[in-house]
Amino acid sequence: MRRIYLDYNATTPIAPSVLEAMEPFLHSHYGNASSSHWLGRAAAEGVSDARGMLAGLLSCDEDEIVFTSGGTESNNLAIKGVMLREPPTSGAHLVISALEHPAVNAPAEFLRRMGYDVSVVPANKQGIVEPDLVFKAIKRKTRLVSIIHANNEIGTIQPIRQIADFCHSRSILVHTDAAQTVGKIRTDVDQLDVDLLTVAAHKFYGPKGVGALFVRGGVDLEPLHHGGDQESGLRAGTENTAAIVGLGRAAVLCNKALDESSKRMEFLRDDLLARLEKGIGVLLNVNGFLAPRLPNTLSVVFPSVNARSMLDRLPQLAASTGSACHSTTGTSGTLQAIGLSPAAAQGTMRLSLGWYTSQEDIETVSDWLIDAWQSLTS
Ligand SMILES: Cc1ncc(COP(=O)(O)O)c(C=O)c1O
Repeated sequence: MRRIYLDYNATTPIAPSVLEAMEPFLHSHYGNASSSHWLGRAAAEGVSDARGMLAGLLSCDEDEIVFTSGGTESNNLAIKGVMLREPPTSGAHLVISALEHPAVNAPAEFLRRMGYDVSVVPANKQGIVEPDLVFKAIKRKTRLVSIIHANNEIGTIQPIRQIADFCHSRSILVHTDAAQTVGKIRTDVDQLDVDLLTVAAHKFYGPKGVGALFVRGGVDLEPLHHGGDQESGLRAGTENTAAIVGLGRAAVLCNKALDESSKRMEFLRDDLLARLEKGIGVLLNVNGFLAPRLPNTLSVVFPSVNARSMLDRLPQLAASTGSACHSTTGTSGTLQAIGLSPAAAQGTMRLSLGWYTSQEDIETVSDWLIDAWQSLTS
């Protein structure tokens, strides 16, 4: 049976040339990047080249990149790394939004339990965090504002630059979780004017279990891991050389493909929506439709059905009713945050496209979804 993958926001396959670049580091170049002999130097070179490649994608300096185990660790390092520099009794204040991934919500909740002051800024119905509401949340002791760059479920892109301009006028640091944007749209740290930015390789055709945090020169963080002095002392532990090399190569591929692939994604995504609307016979509610959105993401509400039941009828289709992280609990903070009714939230399906999605896939998936919807509603 034909199977189709439309869950690229959950993860992407490793691109063949990324795998090829990683391979020697899994066997012949097995040295420890901290060793001074030839094998160590080969590993260190791989890490250093990858650092330059990611810096090229983000338009930052190489020494502003800290390699981590992925998006979750990068978010933890950014948020706890800033806040833990002061004790909870100092009144230090953190601002996040209602559209964050659990990898931001959970460290914020941990800090709240420790006694730090944490505020959550709501989103509007279009899935945007309005800068004015961020400004209103700021207090005298606000140390960090952390707002997701693009939401993983509905794809809405947040006005990070506007938020950063205001925060910097008050000497407040700004972090953005860019796990869903790096490799999909241009993500330039100077254009965004952020101090900290999260990267996850498996969202852009690199391997899982590796990521990075951009840390602007001069920003001091408390490390989370204590041990060796790898990654300028910010991330102790022997580097995962092959994975880091893969991340670097994926960054180069994305840098080259970005403009063309995002146009292609957008075309296919809009074609999918048009086909669904034609087959179902109504204009569908698309979450975040009026906001700037990721080109690959369609969060669509199927009327009068449970999207989970539709997917249960289509075991050959890999898609999601929310983010992969919510698919077991069934609750989506994002859909609640944009004020979706429980019925609309239940009917919501996330279809996320990627490099290997073809026009034929779109045609087949729209037929499958229309059939499943018709049989559930007839
Ligand atoms: C927006 C966002 N942040 C963070 C993460 C976590 O990244 P990782 O899976 O690399 O820990 C994800 C992945 O689902 C994500 O979509």
